[in-house]
Amino acid sequence: MDVALDAAPAVALATDARPLPLRLTAIRYAARGVNVYELQAIDGMPLPTFTPGAHVDLHLRPGIVRQYSLIGPTGDAGHYAVAVKRDPAGRGGSVHLHDVVRVGDMIDVGRPRNHFVLHENARHSVLLAGGIGVTPMVAMARRLRELGSAFTLHYSVRRRDEAAFLDLLKGEELRLHVDVEREGRFMDVGSIVAEAPADAHLYCCGPAPMLDAFEAAAQGRPGGLVHLERFTAAAPSATAGGYRVRLERSGRVVPVRPGQTILEALRATGIDVQASCEQGICGTCETRVLRGRPDHRDSLLSDEERAANRAMMICCSGSLDDELVLDL
Ligand code: FES
Repeated sequence: MDVALDAAPAVALATDARPLPLRLTAIRYAARGVNVYELQAIDGMPLPTFTPGAHVDLHLRPGIVRQYSLIGPTGDAGHYAVAVKRDPAGRGGSVHLHDVVRVGDMIDVGRPRNHFVLHENARHSVLLAGGIGVTPMVAMARRLRELGSAFTLHYSVRRRDEAAFLDLLKGEELRLHVDVEREGRFMDVGSIVAEAPADAHLYCCGPAPMLDAFEAAAQGRPGGLVHLERFTAAAPSATAGGYRVRLERSGRVVPVRPGQTILEALRATGIDVQASCEQGICGTCETRVLRGRPDHRDSLLSDEERAANRAMMICCSGSLDDELVLDL
């Protein structure tokens, strides 16, 4: 789900990915088509902490793992809460949560990861949210208020009853844009970015056209000030194949054939690698690169991180060289 232009601290490579078995303790209405799901440990033990912008994997059933942002508050270690919009045209995760899952069910939940890091020392932060893209912004806005930091939150919805968390977000920082109340006009992302202070950190999460407009508008700004989170892949996976992957720790060499991603090639030879979204948006499969140049296709690594050539997402990225050496 995240980020392209971010120069935030590099995320740690996934190590202990064992999910936590959590009890679904509440389902609450948040807005038209949007529910909040609250999860707690069965023994009431504290859950791993998280920072604003973090997400977790929900293992909904075999083969269905979905990522959802934690809405916070970040200081509450007792439970996790995520908000999910029912999307009949989606890949099935949201429909499963809305139509099948019930309070009391157990759900395996991955440990929080954050590729959409809030820069808490910013002099000003500008948050742009479209629809259900508001979810990471909820935790961010809560934290910025707690810090007394200057920020504005531009939140766009088509209809007023689709706006979630207005009780939490209301205040002078909130600019709510309701399309149907503006003769169907979309929020003017370009103007918001143009009018933001030059040193402001900008964050955007929402549908692809909004993110594309944001990226275009923020082109001239330093990459370290521009942060975005995607829910869907920004580029097709690299499947040209025709190269090999050398696994440094095991000494194995695996050919990646045309039509395969690296992840698929490894699985085909019986090598089990952690993965979740399989479209370059969650970071579960992030792998250290020891030699060779990846053909990056993810939505997570910043330009600086790509140039550093130290890590890649093997679910979607390929190789520009005949051999890629990975720390596996
Ligand atoms: Fe999600 Fe690769 S980035 S599995």
